[in-house]
Amino acid sequence: MDTLAVAIAIAREAGALVRQGFGKVQRLEFKGAVNPVTETDTAAEALILSRLRAAFPEHAILGEETGGSPWNVPGPIWLVDPLDGTNNFAHGFPHFAVSLGLMVGGELQVGVVYDPLRDELFAAQRGAGATLNGTSIRVSATARLTDAFLATGFGYNRRVAADNNTRMLDCFLRRSQGVRRAGSAALDMAYVACGRFDGYWESYLSPWDLAAGVLLVQEAGGRASDYGGGTAYLFSGREVLVSNGLIHAEMLRVLREGPAAPHPDFPALT
Ligand code: IPD
Ligand code: CA
Ligand code: CA
Repeated sequence: MDTLAVAIAIAREAGALVRQGFGKVQRLEFKGAVNPVTETDTAAEALILSRLRAAFPEHAILGEETGGSPWNVPGPIWLVDPLDGTNNFAHGFPHFAVSLGLMVGGELQVGVVYDPLRDELFAAQRGAGATLNGTSIRVSATARLTDAFLATGFGYNRRVAADNNTRMLDCFLRRSQGVRRAGSAALDMAYVACGRFDGYWESYLSPWDLAAGVLLVQEAGGRASDYGGGTAYLFSGREVLVSNGLIHAEMLRVLREGPAAPHPDFPALT
């Protein structure tokens, strides 16, 4: 069985369900103060889980809405975000996606991110490259942070966390062409993979947010790491940095040194 083809078919089917639910939210509940869930999140996850169980009965699953296995089991595990961008979805903001990633023995093997409103299907398989609607994609060639167009996000602990990423937002705003907070981590990473963004960072994500996106970036020729440049804190989602590879070292330096990192216009700015 072609695992990637099955994942694509499931993402498209779930995406159609999400598209149908857009603009018709009936039930909005909260898993935390700013962490909404709608009937569409739940229905899309139920659909994805039933399809995955039928196709891969021996694989473990971790879904955002129903939980499941820990992400770091030794065997194959699907990391499922049925609707990445629920806040957008719940407010009628047309930017969200279905995200499916397959990890085997701690290594990402398959990743699919589907934007049902734009009908954009991003797919990657380890060693086989990344595609957008079947056409090969590559990260950008932007070589300097000062020329870079970036994305970020703010975790669900943003109201209370001492470090809620606003300090880093300030640091990157002052050193790049701009920073977007579009509200879907999976699409942020897919956009790095196809060169729309040059880099993206976020803290306190979960494995289902990042699995597909990280593989997309890697297979499109980019780099993914935690804020130390390794992977110790990457797959749990605690620290996610993806980029075209060329600006990775500069972004790492900003994440490490904050306001003391080099600034293009004011080298002495601290
Ligand atoms: C969220 C989105 C958002 C990111 C949050 C995520 P959800 O996922 O990806 O962009 O900033 O940290 O939790 O809850 O919409 O699936
Ligand atoms: Ca998510
Ligand atoms: Ca979600």
